[in-house]
Amino acid sequence: MIKVNVTIIGGGPSGLLLSQILMNAGIETVIIEKHTKQHVLSRIRAGVLEQGTVSLLDKAGVGKRVYEEGFRHEGTLISSENKSFRISFRDTVRKNVTIFGQTEVTRDLYDAQENIDAKIIHGVSDVQIIDPLKNNPEVVFYDKNGLKKKIISDFVVGCDGFHGVSRQSIPANKKKEFERIYPFGWLGILSETPPVSEELIYANTRDGFALCSMRNESLSRYYIQCSLKTKAEDYSDNYFWQELRARLPEQFKGSLVTGPSIEKSIAPLRSFVIEPLKYGQLFLVGDAAHIVPPTGAKGLNLAFSDVFYLSNAFKLFYAGKGEVELENYSGKALSRIWKAVRFSWWMTTLMHEFPSADPFDRKIKLSEIDYLENSKYAQKVFSENYVGLPF
Ligand code: APR
Ligand code: PHB
Repeated sequence: MIKVNVTIIGGGPSGLLLSQILMNAGIETVIIEKHTKQHVLSRIRAGVLEQGTVSLLDKAGVGKRVYEEGFRHEGTLISSENKSFRISFRDTVRKNVTIFGQTEVTRDLYDAQENIDAKIIHGVSDVQIIDPLKNNPEVVFYDKNGLKKKIISDFVVGCDGFHGVSRQSIPANKKKEFERIYPFGWLGILSETPPVSEELIYANTRDGFALCSMRNESLSRYYIQCSLKTKAEDYSDNYFWQELRARLPEQFKGSLVTGPSIEKSIAPLRSFVIEPLKYGQLFLVGDAAHIVPPTGAKGLNLAFSDVFYLSNAFKLFYAGKGEVELENYSGKALSRIWKAVRFSWWMTTLMHEFPSADPFDRKIKLSEIDYLENSKYAQKVFSENYVGLPF
């Protein structure tokens, strides 16, 4: 049997960062993770870090490579049909974002955890949280050798993502779930080609959305809106490049460098929030608690703001300052979560074409993009949300 202060279910970015911050504060954790470390690091995920995220990683001692290898972006391009315009984060809100792949963040978190001998158990199965309402709740699971194990701790944190076990451990009559599923997906590719633009391009055309992003100067990440009725293998590279070029504004069509895709996948888009984020001694963090469509690049950043609030609450509790912040975690985190969910929903609705849209919808969309292009107030609101609201 294992006894620790905090049991963390899930060894993705949320679980790893929470463990790093708590262990740095002398609070003992154990992470139990379903997959191997290699599997966790094989996931291709967005790479836009808000300033709050970068400083949180830095304070946890995991910010070195972000500063050395990350790309500071002080604005983004928005385009509609053949026109494009730039929104300057620097001129509107005096902030920036950093482009640094989530996989690299996760890799650095794993390295940092290994450096402090963190307890991470990979390959677990049949994880069960036994009575979260009880003081010192138990978590039972089978390890990779099929041996049944038990952990007793003061608290359990579900960092086990959208398909995890934690959210299911809260009785239906004790939780409310809110969801919006979008009628399209993102077909994404990774290519060893130079990015078409130094900054990201969010493009809308009547044929659908496109996004031009990057991982570094020779690794580009591109997405086009696609039907959910299709599979990645239905699309040839040639078709992808042709569609992407068609959705780019005129000034970028000629400079797009194409090449073979080294990764191709379709991601569905969904908004999801569960309330509350606390049930007895169980807390939910990150994708276990909420999902946003990737348009606003909020997924990882929102997971980390949950970690910020909860880790502070645990530090106060273990410093003998009581449970007030633990009780406040859910309300405080949900206030910021819903603002990020709203922005991600708004940006997704603005930049994508909905099958149900009629000519009036199209005119409203073009008018809203026109307003965003020509109002410094609208650009300030966009920037304030995109770079990340304060924690
Ligand atoms: N037991 C143990 N581990 C589990 C279980 C389980 N029952 N279910 C899921 N897991 C693990 C998954 O294997 C995964 O490694 O929990 C981890 C959850 O990690 P993520 O899904 O990455 O969620 P999170 O850490 O909150 O990070 C959120 O990742 O998915 C992206 O877009 C998302 O950027 C956001 C970030
Ligand atoms: C990415 O680089 O994968 C990316 C960037 C910005 C987004 C979504 C994804 O809004």
